[in-house]
This record gives sequence, structure tokens and C-alpha cells, in this order.
Amino acid sequence: MNTPRELFLHELSDMLSAEHIIAGTLGELTSETQHDEIKAAFKEHGTQSKEHIKRLQQAFKAMGEKPEDTTCHAAAGLRQEHEALHEEDPSPEVLEMGNLLGAAKSEHYEIASYTGLVQIARDLGEREVADLLKQNLDEEQAMAKKIVDFTKMTGKEAKQAIREQEKAEKATAAAR
Ligand SMILES: [Fe+2]
Ligand SMILES: [Fe+2]
Repeated sequence: MNTPRELFLHELSDMLSAEHIIAGTLGELTSETQHDEIKAAFKEHGTQSKEHIKRLQQAFKAMGEKPEDTTCHAAAGLRQEHEALHEEDPSPEVLEMGNLLGAAKSEHYEIASYTGLVQIARDLGEREVADLLKQNLDEEQAMAKKIVDFTKMTGKEAKQAIREQEKAEKATAAAR
């Protein structure tokens, strides 16, 4: 590999793999959440991920190239983290918080990747490709923002649950 174009095509193939892996994980996150609005957001982003894959394929076409068969080890690693969380046998509330943290990591990996790829596409004079990747980037950023809101929401719920438990413990102690 000697040229920026070759690097770009390799990284683009890597993103295609990442999107496939993340689309699979999003399906699991959709079924695991206890909140309707989180479920709706994961589901919608799953649909968007399929669109991201289509745009990546369009990008290859626009450049007259085919993707190489590669695995995104970062996305695969994030998926393994999700499996590892399950091995800890978390309560539904804890799983929810862990899944949101994992989802945030995935989105920021995608944001970092697409930000760099948009820049390289522009530098290579591939304007159509840059536009396609920018559309993916915008949707990743919107999803990352939603996850921040969901994290605040579940954090508040966790705080409330801790307070209620403390109250109950005090009441039990007072009754003794
Ligand atoms: Fe994506
Ligand atoms: Fe995403």
C-alpha cells in the first residue's frame, strides 16, 4: 500500500465491515432496552445503518472500485464487549446503562472514522464520495446526541432508585 487512495479504499472497506457488525449489535440493543423511546431510536438507527451500507457501496461504485473482504476489528471488539457485559449477568437496569455506554462508543468510533474519511475523500477530489460519507456522519452525530440524552435519563432513574432503596432501609431500621 503506497498511495492515499489505496489507504482510503482499505479504510472504506473497513467501514463497510464495521457497519455490518454494528447493524447486528443494534438489533440486540433494540430487543434488550426497557424504554420505548430508546427502542425506537435503536430501531431507527438500525434502519439508518442499512442505508449507511448502501451509501458505502455507492461510494465504491463512484470510484469504480470494489470493497475488499476485511473485518473491522474495532467494531468486532465493541461487539465482544457487549457479549462480555452479558457474561456479568447484569440486572435489566444495569444492562440498559451498559448498553448505552457501548452504543456511545460505537457511535464515536463511526464519527471519528467518517470525519477522517470525508476529509480524505475531499483531498482526493472525490466530491460525490465525500457527500455520501458526510450523510452517514450526520446521522451518526445525531444518534450520539440521542444517546447522551438517554444516558442522562437512565442516570436519573438510577439515582432515584438508590434514594428509594436508602429510604426503605432507613424505615426498616427504624421499625426494629
Ligand atoms: Fe453507521
Ligand atoms: Fe451509528
